[in-house]
Amino acid sequence: MALRNIVTEKEARLRKVSRPVEKFDERLWTLLDDMADTMYEADGVGIAGVQVGVLRRVFVVDIGEGLTEFINPTITAQSGEQDGLEGCLSSPGEYGLVVRPEKVTIEAYDRHGKPFTLEAEGFMARAICHENDHLDGHIFKDITHHMLTDEELRKLDEE
Ligand code: NI
Repeated sequence: MALRNIVTEKEARLRKVSRPVEKFDERLWTLLDDMADTMYEADGVGIAGVQVGVLRRVFVVDIGEGLTEFINPTITAQSGEQDGLEGCLSSPGEYGLVVRPEKVTIEAYDRHGKPFTLEAEGFMARAICHENDHLDGHIFKDITHHMLTDEELRKLDEE
């Protein structure tokens, strides 16, 4: 198990555009393993390469249904709309409401370079959209329509 430091929104490199993965080798597998370890340790549901300082188009997601790794992903279809709460490991303690598609179709590669297509909805679709945005240097705070106030955060804590 190896934890990596999480890049925060205060660091300019979080806003960089990531480059495609070219080699599906042990270096990539170590990165993916470390990203998952770092995400679980921080109690997150997703993390992108840029968030551990690696500007490659990779992210991992686990919303409690198992880990999925996405390499060189493309969202190829989306439909519907959902409004809900998001946070980010790069913006600790902050939460905001973000409108996302209710359903997405994403094409990506697994760690061995094998292509796959996934259809996701609800919170999984939200997590995928959030992480995919990181690959282009975007964070949820760019598109939130309401950041939770201290008072709202306190209420959320009590729930
Ligand atoms: Ni994030």
